[in-house]
Amino acid sequence: MALSGIDAVVFGVADMTEAKRFLDDWGVETVTARPDRLVYRTRDGAEVIVRPHDAADLPLAIESGNTVREVVWGATSAQELNWTLEKLRGLPSFRTGADGLPRVTDPNGLSLAFRVSKRTPITVKPTPPNAPGSHQRVNQRSPVHDQARPINIGHVVMFAADFAAMRSFYTEKLDFVISDEYPGHGVFTRCQRVGDHHNAFILNRPSRPGINHVAFTLADIHEVIGGGIAMSKKGWKTEIGPGRHPISSAYFWYFENPLAAPLEYYADEDYCTEDWKPGTFERKPELFAEWAIAGGIDGKTRRQVAIRDQSGRGHA
Ligand SMILES: [Fe+2]
Repeated sequence: MALSGIDAVVFGVADMTEAKRFLDDWGVETVTARPDRLVYRTRDGAEVIVRPHDAADLPLAIESGNTVREVVWGATSAQELNWTLEKLRGLPSFRTGADGLPRVTDPNGLSLAFRVSKRTPITVKPTPPNAPGSHQRVNQRSPVHDQARPINIGHVVMFAADFAAMRSFYTEKLDFVISDEYPGHGVFTRCQRVGDHHNAFILNRPSRPGINHVAFTLADIHEVIGGGIAMSKKGWKTEIGPGRHPISSAYFWYFENPLAAPLEYYADEDYCTEDWKPGTFERKPELFAEWAIAGGIDGKTRRQVAIRDQSGRGHA
């Protein structure tokens, strides 16, 4: 396969100071912090790049307000990159940017750039579970996280103005594989035949392109919960979460933010090979979330802390 995942996402925002405050709390590592340019890195080196929304060199916005201005897709080698570019060179939007990166515009109007990946894949060991007769965590406590540290940028979800055109662009031009589908309404696609459940999820919203959310991968459910509570305690508002998606199996927590549409913490999604059987589903709320807490868990009022405060005694 040609592309290995999201190497960078470029945002255009109205308030750089607020964007910086959010990313400092989100758990990504600061690389550059200038008034007109923020660069942060996930643990594997994927970049979050933030620019003022009116920066002259930003690609056009596909919707009003704070939003994603470009997605940079990585390939594992120059050869793999060329394999993708061969399919893109004939497109009218194919161009080379001032930074030397090849680019196209997808049918939604979103700029896509391509490069040999700067990420360094890392191996993450989630906390192993225990169950009667199956003890995978022995003589080891399960951790409590007081801060998430995103591992990579796992997926971007887009509202497609022309769903059929977007579906065929991502599956035929970028050669993404369909993992699951709401026929006519949404398609979950992954960029590797053997890989995580989705890197691009395309939702049908006729005539109005946009970004639905961008998602950051964490190690396991404990980090989703601990990281989400940490964001809540810092005052960031939950859009929805924690919860669990039945399609992709992932645990999630979405936050409103000053960068774009919601940003998501998630963990434990399905991993697919050629033997994965894509499903077709009717689009309905219970397939978005098996369960979810609207408004999140209030990070200031964890039960045992509140009880201890009021009674003077702790409850073990
Ligand atoms: Fe997501």
